[in-house]
Amino acid sequence: MTKTSKQDRVLIFDTTLRDGEQSPGATMSHEEKLEIAALLDEMGVDVIEAGFPIASEGDFRAVAEIAKNSVNSVICGLSRAQLPDIDRAWEAIQHARQPRIHTFIGTSPLHRSIPNLSMDEMAERIHGTVTHARNLCDDVQWSPMDATRTEHDYLCRVVEIAIKAGATTINIPDTVGYTAPRESADLIRMLIEKVPGADQVVFATHCHNDLGMATANSLAAVEAGARQIECTINGLGERAGNTALEEVVMALKVRNDIMPYQTKIDTTKIMNLSRRVAAVSGFAVQFNKAIVGKNAFLHESGIHQDGVLKNVETFEIMKPSDIGLNEDNIVLGKHSGRAALRSKLKNLGIEMGENQLKDVFVRFKDLADRKKEVYDEDLIALVQVAEDAGADRLSLKRLRVVCGTEGQEAEMTMIVDGEEKSFSSSGDGPVDAAFNCVKAIFPHEARLQLYQVHAVTEGTDAQATVSVRLAEDGRIVTGQSADTDTVVASVKAYIHALNRLLVRRGKAGSDAKEISYKDVS
Ligand code: KIV
Ligand code: ZN
Repeated sequence: MTKTSKQDRVLIFDTTLRDGEQSPGATMSHEEKLEIAALLDEMGVDVIEAGFPIASEGDFRAVAEIAKNSVNSVICGLSRAQLPDIDRAWEAIQHARQPRIHTFIGTSPLHRSIPNLSMDEMAERIHGTVTHARNLCDDVQWSPMDATRTEHDYLCRVVEIAIKAGATTINIPDTVGYTAPRESADLIRMLIEKVPGADQVVFATHCHNDLGMATANSLAAVEAGARQIECTINGLGERAGNTALEEVVMALKVRNDIMPYQTKIDTTKIMNLSRRVAAVSGFAVQFNKAIVGKNAFLHESGIHQDGVLKNVETFEIMKPSDIGLNEDNIVLGKHSGRAALRSKLKNLGIEMGENQLKDVFVRFKDLADRKKEVYDEDLIALVQVAEDAGADRLSLKRLRVVCGTEGQEAEMTMIVDGEEKSFSSSGDGPVDAAFNCVKAIFPHEARLQLYQVHAVTEGTDAQATVSVRLAEDGRIVTGQSADTDTVVASVKAYIHALNRLLVRRGKAGSDAKEISYKDVS
């Protein structure tokens, strides 16, 4: 490869499964690692660093299986500058369609002092280990760990040795997150200009985020000539983490005008990967994290919401759908205006005339003054207060439930439009048996979206509050009830939601859709 070829292409090297998994507490199971690797491969990551095979039997097995399953990505295994490490890494990755050995050694004065190697001894070690790796594998990456704190002359010397020994990628790590964008760029530029053979290899950048500059440092390195960015999903990694894949990829996409480099990443897969990595690593994503944080595409202030509803580009530099996020981006609070409320209600399947909206808006402002964030559930409840004024068509008259190790059965009598109807049913548990009776007495097609039980007080005599959420043809209703008997509270909440659904159907003039109940008594 020459200095000027492939100018516009940047390789994405993901190390979530190696550097990311090194975060204390972020250990993933074997199956989880395979799942994340498959998602990375599908997303278009060029190189997946799948693990550190000599570190443990588990790491070895995971890297070997990821290598066998790989489709498009290069699969890389890490090794220290020791021959048994390199052999073990090769053993793990050899069956990949495109295997890569990555070997590293700390080159800064501090890191040289730990194995107590002189500059010459270390240079010799680098030559020997890179040569050994290259005899096993055509694709060899070499990293001088703590490169950003290594003397420039010595760095140039060891990079040249690694290239001569057969390294095909030279990775320049900012191991302790110490560099800054201009320095990061200058370092890459100096190496490309000074080291003989630099035009034969790909330079990579690997930045940690200790000063919050990892993404900026990586992009600066690219502008200076690096053509591989090492990163992790959600910026997972040691201490403050690594450059976040989603940040560099979206920065290159959104600011292609000033950083004209392409990646192969299918950005619409980003959100799903971010959520899976958060779930399996147990490292939740901070709400205001760029690109993938819960608030990254949410607008709360009235001015912003109004702007976004008129023209989304007023306050969004990328579309949520660019990263595979297809959710509503308006969060209601005390700064929200009437247009935002109408839009939010519409998304919840609630349409209303101007007068009714005015009334709901007054109650919404009152609630928003008392509550920081008004959730969908609060809004649905607000709208329902008005609807509850109508008489209930359904009510519970009698419920008897038998439960225990022998099975569960419910017998129920309900009043439906003034008439008594009874039914008995078994089920998977007492609540399921009782809900089956409601469905038999009043047949309907509404889907149960949410069933939640909260204990309001402590102790075995606690009052249980139950919420039930039903959805039918885009209409969403919730029902609540409280009782010391959880099954009674559940049935009443279910019936409450059904009564609200009947009011909503009537309002939409679609009573014709209502399934007439058959007498099952
Ligand atoms: O941060 C670092 O220096 C590393 C090396 C192993 C590349 O992760
Ligand atoms: Zn690292």
